[in-house]
Amino acid sequence: MTAAKQFEMLFPDLSQIPDAHRITPIHQTEYLIDGNIHQWTGEMEKMYSPVYVKTANGIDPMYLGSHPSMTEKESLLALDAAVRAYDNGRGKWAIMPVQERIAHVADFIGRMKAQRANVVKTLMWEIGKTLLDSEKEFDRTIEYMNDTIDALKDLDRKSSRFDIEQGIVAQIRRSPLGVALCMGPFNYPLNETFTTLIPALTMGNTVIFKPPKLGVLLFKYLLDAFKESFPPGVVNTIYGAGQKVVPPLMESGKIDVLAFIGSSRVAGILKKQHPRLHRLRGVLGLDAKNPAVVLPDADLDLAIKECLLGTLSFNGQRCTALKILFVHNSIADAFVEKFSNAVNALKCGMPWDAGVNITPLAEPSKPKYIAEILADAVAHGAKVVNENGGVSYHSLVQPAVVYPVTPSMRLYNEEQFCPIVPIVPFEHLDAPIEYIAQSNYGQQVSIFSANAEMVAHYVDALVNQVCRVNINSQCQRGPDVFPFAGRKDSAEGTLSVSDALRAFSIRTMVAAKGSEQNKMLLTDIVKSHKSSFLSTDFIL
Ligand code: G3H
Repeated sequence: MTAAKQFEMLFPDLSQIPDAHRITPIHQTEYLIDGNIHQWTGEMEKMYSPVYVKTANGIDPMYLGSHPSMTEKESLLALDAAVRAYDNGRGKWAIMPVQERIAHVADFIGRMKAQRANVVKTLMWEIGKTLLDSEKEFDRTIEYMNDTIDALKDLDRKSSRFDIEQGIVAQIRRSPLGVALCMGPFNYPLNETFTTLIPALTMGNTVIFKPPKLGVLLFKYLLDAFKESFPPGVVNTIYGAGQKVVPPLMESGKIDVLAFIGSSRVAGILKKQHPRLHRLRGVLGLDAKNPAVVLPDADLDLAIKECLLGTLSFNGQRCTALKILFVHNSIADAFVEKFSNAVNALKCGMPWDAGVNITPLAEPSKPKYIAEILADAVAHGAKVVNENGGVSYHSLVQPAVVYPVTPSMRLYNEEQFCPIVPIVPFEHLDAPIEYIAQSNYGQQVSIFSANAEMVAHYVDALVNQVCRVNINSQCQRGPDVFPFAGRKDSAEGTLSVSDALRAFSIRTMVAAKGSEQNKMLLTDIVKSHKSSFLSTDFIL
């Protein structure tokens, strides 16, 4: 039986989908603006799963439902609501004492937890993420929100005092920036949207959020929670084609923070649309082409295990994925053989299958892209070295290990974001360092070696070129308390539980010359709780 035929057999008919994982179409007609859930009656965008299902008429992507295809008008209504709610920093949310704001976020977490099963199932169907990873994405997001509350408490405790310097008495706190536009990516539609949206909210900004092009319907289950947990206008949602609904927001000049996880090309277009560039802050997670470097004395089995996870978790659709492997000539043959065998031992199947690794690809255009980029590599002298690598049936693609990859191939520089693993053999020990220096990306790197001198040499050469050097481990974002950043075209700003709070706020102070009169005035304000900024209340 051909590999394509085997893939065809992996797709189910309706009766083969386990009861617990069946889904009925979700028509997400509601949207939240200014604290009201409105019913959309206009044009709807139909959504299909990357999971194909066999019927009597053939095989088709599972129909998942639809969401509003909004226009400039609704986009501007959402903007007006967010601007009004912020009210130039005088809005209820922006001036609310931190402890009260935390109570609203905690209330939201409780409501969100109740939707776990719905969100996880929809996430799995919308982007083809395994059930286990969909559950992990949900749970990790809840943990991130709880950690954000703890980090804010900590920040507030440190600010709950006056400083006296050179005769000036001052209280310094972090204050919100204004209206934040938050847009996450399709590969982590929940988690990466919330890792900007929640810190933005928590710091007192008002928010407009637009779900990514895939991974939209899952937000239906959170709309009520947003409405119930936050004051009107603090959270507003828009749906539809980014090219239609986002430019009016940026061109208005009223967006203060653009929080966007996606391509540097789109981020560049959006930033240029803003008429007041100095007003706009960017919190951006962009392109990456993280390399692994396997040095001569690496523990081969460990390197293979980590490179497998790094290249092919969620089919390589992670911004932190290892997207090119540099393997020293002295071990290249052994590495390529063992790695190819490990790739072919991965289980392909449906997202709910136990132990599945490779699942249908989320983007409908990806199989065609894979065929093109593999053809380019082969035309320039590489081979697909694993059996059936690159063979596809609709959205399911057998991972391809491509070797030897050279600078003439698209795979050498292009971020593939799919299950293709390019391997570059090298001789001079510093060759991968030079590749990274010339690259447009600067997110992370993985170094595999047991030689302390060599690792130290690589660390010192690379720490000023990327933002995380992983030793004998794959690249990854977590743990989320660690800084997640990138140089060059890979990011703007740093995210982590605590860094995100800083990214969505600015240090602001109230200062007075330390005269007796001023001291008495400040004491009166603090003692009688006249201000929420000037306060020494300590959150326990
Ligand atoms: O797609 C980018 C994600 O932030 C990666 O997170 O390394 O935990 O998969 P991860």
